[in-house]
Amino acid sequence: MHLPVATRPIRDDDLLRLVRLWPRLSPETRYRRFHAPVQTLPPAAVRRLVHVDHDTREAVVALVADEVVGVARYDRSPTDRGSAELAVVVEDDWQGLGLGRQLMREVVALAAVRGVRRLTADVQEDNVPALRLVARLLPTASVECEDGICAVDGSIGTPRPALVTG
Ligand SMILES: CC(C)(COP(=O)(O)OP(=O)(O)OC[C@H]1O[C@@H](n2cnc3c(N)ncnc32)[C@H](O)[C@@H]1OP(=O)(O)O)[C@@H](O)C(=O)NCCC(=O)NCCS
Repeated sequence: MHLPVATRPIRDDDLLRLVRLWPRLSPETRYRRFHAPVQTLPPAAVRRLVHVDHDTREAVVALVADEVVGVARYDRSPTDRGSAELAVVVEDDWQGLGLGRQLMREVVALAAVRGVRRLTADVQEDNVPALRLVARLLPTASVECEDGICAVDGSIGTPRPALVTG
């Protein structure tokens, strides 16, 4: 199926798009993303989610009709630039169509070319779609679950150098 979806790195002017996305996320989707029953997103939190430097922190958005319907991000560890935490969310109406996989692929590829070698994520133990994403994108990752939360820890390979011809 061809989806009318475009993806690109997040921009500062996506702030209002993220504000508009929030009420379209179900309580369950918010809970799975933030591991807490977050009802409102404080302005400072939205600003932090939108304003990234495209190196230490990156986010890729999916857009439909110029509205954000999904976001995947990485945040490098403050103590280890080679390690980053992943997070992703897709608007409920757009889940199950491959968008989460696409966004994660793109953000993992950006992390890889910028020297990130280790990726971590926290996923709820019963979050089947997210665990399937991990299994597909980081097939060698360890997944250790305790008290309902699974800590994912995996490596990404060195990106292949561009083919030099001529
Ligand atoms: C996790 C999430 C991003 C997945 O996005 P998505 O666009 O729905 O996922 P995709 O369509 O790309 O599918 C990813 C995998 O999940 C599976 N999947 C999707 N929806 C599913 C469902 N309802 N039940 C079971 N599996 C499902 C797909 O089959 C696919 O697995 P496969 O590659 O083995 O076939 C989305 O469900 C979401 O936003 N959840 C809330 C936030 C969250 O859980 N974030 C992760 C922690 S930060």
